[in-house]
Amino acid sequence: MAFSPSGIMSDLDRILYSAEEIQTRVCEMAREIESNYAGRTLTVVALMDGALFFVADLLRKVNLPVHLVTLSASSYHGTMASSGEIRIQWPASVDFAGKDVLLLDDILDTGLTLAELQKRLSEQNPASLRTGVLLTKKKPRTVEIRADYSGFEIEDEFVVGYGMDYQGRFRNLPCIGILKP
Ligand code: IMP
Ligand code: MG
Repeated sequence: MAFSPSGIMSDLDRILYSAEEIQTRVCEMAREIESNYAGRTLTVVALMDGALFFVADLLRKVNLPVHLVTLSASSYHGTMASSGEIRIQWPASVDFAGKDVLLLDDILDTGLTLAELQKRLSEQNPASLRTGVLLTKKKPRTVEIRADYSGFEIEDEFVVGYGMDYQGRFRNLPCIGILKP
């Protein structure tokens, strides 16, 4: 069922990826992850709230045993540009030592969030540590980082939908798009 044009879709200037295109790509990513982790148990660290929809769709397509840990991290504090300051709510009682950890986020922008979490997780001696994002922005970065799994490469534009918000709104758009100016 599509949203009516008078609803939240009316705030979009254009759609980058339709719900169908997202699902097709998420399926491909699930197959890639399955083949890389065959016979193992995945410990997924999902960054809330942005990765909520991506992780929910992806993990239901991955035919492997999975432990799911959710973390809250934020670098955008109600704006359209990263503040550069990463706030992480770290879970007290999770032990990542010896685990095959897959860190999942919605989008790789400055890379500061993933870099910080990678550093913090690797200090806990996981057996392996990989990262996955649905979107990677094409842009120069001060930290050198690329995700092991990436759905789409996009231009350096602010996007909303499929978990991604602007001031708390638009997360529930089934597609990914650019807001009207
Ligand atoms: P980074 O630390 O700059 O890579 O930022 C990553 C976080 O910023 C992501 O987890 C998103 O929540 C948020 N973010 C970055 N770019 C966008 C965007 O275009 N739209 C919405 N949120 C974004
Ligand atoms: Mg986020």
